[in-house]
Amino acid sequence: MNTKNTDGHITILGIAGSLRRASFNRAILRTAQSLTPQNATLEVFEIDNIPGFSEDHELDPPAKVVELKARVRAADAILIATPEYNYSIPGVLKNAIDWASRPYGDSAWDGKPVAVIGASIGTMGTARAQYHLRQSFVFLNMYPLNHPEVMIANAASKFDKQGNFMDETGKELIRQLLIKLVEWTRLLRSA
Ligand code: FNR
Repeated sequence: MNTKNTDGHITILGIAGSLRRASFNRAILRTAQSLTPQNATLEVFEIDNIPGFSEDHELDPPAKVVELKARVRAADAILIATPEYNYSIPGVLKNAIDWASRPYGDSAWDGKPVAVIGASIGTMGTARAQYHLRQSFVFLNMYPLNHPEVMIANAASKFDKQGNFMDETGKELIRQLLIKLVEWTRLLRSA
């Protein structure tokens, strides 16, 4: 695991909001790993095996949550790939976000630059989920990158049989987003 450093290298932590083995969103995170600009790396954290959040346990969180918070804190920036479930973000993603935001005053997300991408089989490409997610960034005091927006619609037609993302326009958008996220992170660091 890389840790936050001062030599100009940017470590991005990628989190996909799906546990599905053949998830399109986990796949686009893998694609993003091959598109990071020089002097940046993208590591992926899987949010499987995180129990449902209860305030009763927030002072004694499960090991996976302790690890999540450490990985978020060690990263310079966050990239979230979210599916859209019922016009919002999946419960597993919100659950992971909630765990890592607690206890109050000890949120791992505080002050982190963040970018969002998403793929769905529908025609809106996770737009509604992404705007719900951005709402949480306000309370979490995260610094979202506004543009480009990467909303991959009709995802089922954009992956090959091995699950590789094949859409060149989408890949270029992800490449641009990563460049902008690195610039945004450096800008915030210098401020
Ligand atoms: C969906 N799906 C979906 N798609 C969409 O565009 N808008 C939506 O509101 C929903 N709602 C929804 C709810 C639930 C419970 C499921 C399971 C699915 C379809 C969704 O886009 C599709 O399952 C994606 O493949 C999920 O992302 P992953 O798992 O491939 O990353």
